[in-house]
Amino acid sequence: MRQLAGGAPLAGYTALVTAGPTHEPVDPVRYLANRSSGTQGYAIATALAQAGAEVTLVSGPTTLPDPSGVTTIRVESAREMLTACQQALPCDIAVCAAAVADWHVAPSAQKIKKAAHAPPPVLHLVPNPDILATLSQPSPLRPRLIIGFAAETEHLISHATAKRLRKGCDWMVANDVSPATGIMGGTENEVIVIDETGCAHWPRLDKMQVAHKLVARIAAFLHTSHL
Ligand code: CTP
Ligand code: CA
Repeated sequence: MRQLAGGAPLAGYTALVTAGPTHEPVDPVRYLANRSSGTQGYAIATALAQAGAEVTLVSGPTTLPDPSGVTTIRVESAREMLTACQQALPCDIAVCAAAVADWHVAPSAQKIKKAAHAPPPVLHLVPNPDILATLSQPSPLRPRLIIGFAAETEHLISHATAKRLRKGCDWMVANDVSPATGIMGGTENEVIVIDETGCAHWPRLDKMQVAHKLVARIAAFLHTSHL
């Protein structure tokens, strides 16, 4: 039964959260990755569970412990993350906070060796599936509310606005991940939440506070929107 208010505003709702980086193997000992720690996505999964939602967290490799009260599925690559997300459907809410690698390579079965006089190996990058865009496609399994995170280092609002439309998600949370902000890998976040009506600038907050504020907004949306 879905509760309208109180301590568990998302009781009866199911949620899928992606978090962390992905690792794309190059050979048995090397991989391509990025600086995501997973902190923001884990905080969102935790906050959704505290609000009463039944939460599946699909996480790339992180050093964080599984959040309590959350079903955590650990994956390595973007393609594994997509499969795990599709297996978690149907759900009401999807929050794609993972920093998914944009490309993979065909991995070598053996460790790539330095050859004495040969040039260094060249990596042939192949695009990864876009998990957020795939989940956002019109389908009976499409979650009712899909939220993406746009990691940008310039033109934050215009890039994130274009990204929301391109991927077909409902809200895009824009993040300035320039090294000077300390956001990627840090404990705080400063975001702009973009939906079809415009932008909401939130102050710089601890990532757990950002998560609680996002969950409050999710609950308010689900309780007022019509099916
Ligand atoms: N995303 C995804 N699958 C991918 C790439 C991105 O699900 N293969 C999701 C991220 O989880 C995030 C959103 O898409 O919610 C935006 O990711 P971002 O890297 O900022 O955007 P891209 O579309 O990959 O564009 P670019 O990296 O070129 O800015
Ligand atoms: Ca990307």
